[in-house]
Amino acid sequence: MKSESVITSFYGAEEGQWKIKSIAPVVGESIQQASFLHIANADEYSNSFSWQLKGASSNARYTTKAEKKELVSRQQGLGRSEAVFGSLIPIKKSEKWWELTQDERRAIFEEQSQHIALSMKYLPAIARKLYHSKDLNEPFDFLTWFEFAPEFEADFDQLLKQLRSSEEWTYVVREIDIRVVKVSS
Ligand code: HEM
Repeated sequence: MKSESVITSFYGAEEGQWKIKSIAPVVGESIQQASFLHIANADEYSNSFSWQLKGASSNARYTTKAEKKELVSRQQGLGRSEAVFGSLIPIKKSEKWWELTQDERRAIFEEQSQHIALSMKYLPAIARKLYHSKDLNEPFDFLTWFEFAPEFEADFDQLLKQLRSSEEWTYVVREIDIRVVKVSS
């Protein structure tokens, strides 16, 4: 049996499962405009594209057992029919962040910034998936992907506002906010 690739590619392309509504740089340099977002396994895409961002699904680094239990009980999966809005937010953190030890990073991430506690309130409306890119020598450290129904976009924006004003985000050196809408099949 062929083993399933754990690397996912997000392409800015001329066709795709999602139509790009906007590409907005939040911190640092933006990327080229594109009309569609195509999501595929690793390098399985032969059409032309203007950019490709790769990430690997991985194990959790900071989540405690209790937090995991709560997340699992609240969250819903990707691909819900009503969740026709999506957002791809690539993020790069500073050298200073990566020089910290695991326990120092966890303290900033949760005890100071309440990333999980704050975000948990937005479940199950927002479905999410985190991809790690740093070890793939990519321009970003993380690719974060979200899906929600249109009526929850304001909530999503509110969550972003809270996260972006947190201590954790003082370590973010590059971030792009890409909003998409599902192409009806
Ligand atoms: C929708 C609600 C959200 C929930 C429930 C949530 C939950 C989590 C959890 C549990 C982790 C830790 C994973 C681990 O243990 O390694 C995490 C990491 C992360 N999240 Fe969120 N999150 C949410 C929204 C967001 C948003 C809106 C963004 C971006 C704008 C974001 C960006 C990240 C990043 C970049 C990481 C990796 C941090 C690192 O390892 O340094 N999250 N999130």
